[in-house]
Amino acid sequence: MKKRTEIAHILRGSIAFEQPVTVMGWVRSFRNSQFIALNDGSTLATLQVVVNPETTDATTLKRLTIGAAVCFEGILVASEGKGQTMEVIAQTVEIYGDCDPSTFPLQAKNRPSLEYLREIAHLRFRTNTFGAVFRLRHAIAFAIHKFFNDKGFFYIHAPIITASDAEGAGEMFKVTTLDLKNTPRTEGSDEVDFSKDFFARPTNLTVSGQLEAELAALALGKVYTFGPTFRAENSNTSRHLAEFWMIEPEVAFADLTDNMDLAEQMLKYCIDYCFIHCREDIEYLATRLADEDKQKPQAERAEMGLIEKLEFVVKNDFERVDYTAAVDILVNSAHHKKGKFKFPVSWGTDLQSEHERYLVEKHFKKPVILINYPKDIKAFYMRQNDDGKTVAAMDILFPGIGEIVGGSQREERLEKLVARMEQMHIPTEEMYWFLDTRRYGSCPHAGYGLGFERLVMFISGMTNIRDVIPFPRFPGSAEF
Ligand code: 4AD
Ligand code: MG
Repeated sequence: MKKRTEIAHILRGSIAFEQPVTVMGWVRSFRNSQFIALNDGSTLATLQVVVNPETTDATTLKRLTIGAAVCFEGILVASEGKGQTMEVIAQTVEIYGDCDPSTFPLQAKNRPSLEYLREIAHLRFRTNTFGAVFRLRHAIAFAIHKFFNDKGFFYIHAPIITASDAEGAGEMFKVTTLDLKNTPRTEGSDEVDFSKDFFARPTNLTVSGQLEAELAALALGKVYTFGPTFRAENSNTSRHLAEFWMIEPEVAFADLTDNMDLAEQMLKYCIDYCFIHCREDIEYLATRLADEDKQKPQAERAEMGLIEKLEFVVKNDFERVDYTAAVDILVNSAHHKKGKFKFPVSWGTDLQSEHERYLVEKHFKKPVILINYPKDIKAFYMRQNDDGKTVAAMDILFPGIGEIVGGSQREERLEKLVARMEQMHIPTEEMYWFLDTRRYGSCPHAGYGLGFERLVMFISGMTNIRDVIPFPRFPGSAEF
């Protein structure tokens, strides 16, 4: 195959004018039988390629339709036209793949809705919006690895198939090779005999890699996972997926404050990284969001544009607030007194997203870290506070997103952990391996989980989580 030069490289000015270049990509538009806007995915921008209608044969010209995959060899020159500083004067045209304009759904004329694009997720990569989103998604993933690597963390691969329910919430997808029409039964009972299954026991897809990360942290010191996690919760919302990616750092000899500091630093680092490496894509997405916002009634419009909002998060300290203080704020708010919350709120209730958004968007007007939640609404592994009522938990709440991070200091004291597990009906015998860390050289440690797609949503300004993962899985849908 011929060697191509990527458009991002050319537009960066890396090739001198009057030099030959070979470019390959997909046609975005074709004007006056002469000017092609070519995109190859390496960058948002298109490169103008000029063909000579006199010397190019008519059939080839006809095949230069939107979406066609093509190769041009030509000379890079300074452009005299408006809108671009350089262009390629084509000498040869080769068409790799035709694209029938009568059926190709992505025509320039009509801007397709995000809902429609979700139905054709196999083609939506070809749009400016999704090109920008997925380049950004890559950059954020890379930034996360760089952040932790630079700090001396080790990347641990937690298993995807597991027999444990890390969160104890029972929202798991089962994994089995048994014939569902004819499952083996244990003698004299109706129970499925999992000893005949592939792993000789019931297994499921992981909901979190935390417990395994804890095992590693209590030897390697500082580790993180970054992998897919699965939850069979029936939440058909714009912030939930059945398959999402989670980053879970876990640090030995660390407490809740260290945990908060790390999470805040990491989030700011990722935004900064994208500002430096994805400026063009962020600017495009900011304009897209502003256009979308203009369609809304005045009262619902955002106070800040995307870039302003991201800068604001980087520049300001997150507000650290006790759950108890937050509940007081909510209960005493005019909003509550006027009966404007749909769900009840009082000490002991789990906060609903309307409450979280009130705290972040209306009250503090910045990211909030809520700490020390009632123990009964949190997982078994969180460290019990001296008050006997709360645990050393932390949730980070972001404007427009709600919870982006959930974490805690871990219960490192064996007796307290076992007692809590028994109260919550978590099988202590099966989880001997987890408890062994507390038996042998236990130490204070802490960690958290960042919902990767929620961070991509925040930085890209996309308002539906299904638009920041290539192929979303949610109740009733596993297409592509
Ligand atoms: O708060 P969660 O359930 O915490 C844990 O799983 C802990 N084991 C993390 C830890 O301490 N290591 O989930 C962590 C984050 C949430 O804050 C949210 O951002 C995201 O994961 N998340 C989801 N994202 C998309 N779709 C879902 N269904 C999600 N559920 C949680
Ligand atoms: Mg949570």
